Amino acid sequence: MTDTNLLDNRPPPRWIDGQALAARVRAELKRKVQEASERGLTPGLAVVRVGEDPASKSYVGAKVRACAEVGFHSRHISLPATTTEAELLDRIDALNRDPAIHGILVQLPLPPSIDEARVLGAIDPAKDADGFHPLNVGRLLLGLDAPVPCTPKGILRLLDEAGVDLRGKRVVVIGRSNIVGKPVALLLLARDASVAICHSKTADLPEEVRRADVIIAAVGCPALIKPDWIKPGAIIIDVGINRTAAGKLVGDVEPTCFDRATAMTPVPGGVGPMTVAMLLDNTFELFCRGLDYRSTVVEE
Ligand code: GUN
Repeated sequence: MTDTNLLDNRPPPRWIDGQALAARVRAELKRKVQEASERGLTPGLAVVRVGEDPASKSYVGAKVRACAEVGFHSRHISLPATTTEAELLDRIDALNRDPAIHGILVQLPLPPSIDEARVLGAIDPAKDADGFHPLNVGRLLLGLDAPVPCTPKGILRLLDEAGVDLRGKRVVVIGRSNIVGKPVALLLLARDASVAICHSKTADLPEEVRRADVIIAAVGCPALIKPDWIKPGAIIIDVGINRTAAGKLVGDVEPTCFDRATAMTPVPGGVGPMTVAMLLDNTFELFCRGLDYRSTVVEE
């Protein structure tokens, strides 16, 4: 084993361990939840899923298990694919009014018969655990306090964990979804990075990636990013969770890209666990804000 990279004199690349960081976040939250429970208060998260999408079932299962681990009250509402938009809006209305619920998440995608924008807009912005309500999206754009979408928030924590100073760095974000690409680009911009957002119509993706000091791959295309696209010493965050025909989970980045990087997140065990941990973190923040609000009302 050498202690330098074969390409140049850089230290060998490191994996950024999202599993370990997420476990630390959960342990810290568990401690805070215990403190709150000594005062008779418990954070509550409602997770709503519509239909039978296997990936959504597995993500929601992980979210509900994580709630139990840290001591949150959680409500898992699983509705059939035949649920109408009006029925779903009624459920959200009830959760908005439920004082035991501080965070609400509607798992996406929704069945095509349901208008996603209308549903996300119906969640009380003060209970918006995903930060997907248009008011909160606007606040994030303006740099105002708002719940930060979970995967982008997890990505920033992973970059901090890896000791990456984003100021002045060239970052390429591959993927322009509302869930990851757009919000992570805003967060990186707020950290003074120079951000390029690439997508399926980008003219020369390999060349865009070659220029980047930090690569965020969130496109949902197995092993799209190739080793010869990687600037030596780049940081790579692989957001992709793609299942092969053989049932194996693979990212958007070819694993051998690691050899050219300074640090890279694995799949699985990188961004995925952080998304779940940040959902808990957001819910706890919403719970604390609710307490502040209640104490203000009492004082008046
Ligand atoms: N589907 C894929 N990622 C997410 C997420 O972060 N939140 C929700 N609500 N749905 C998703």
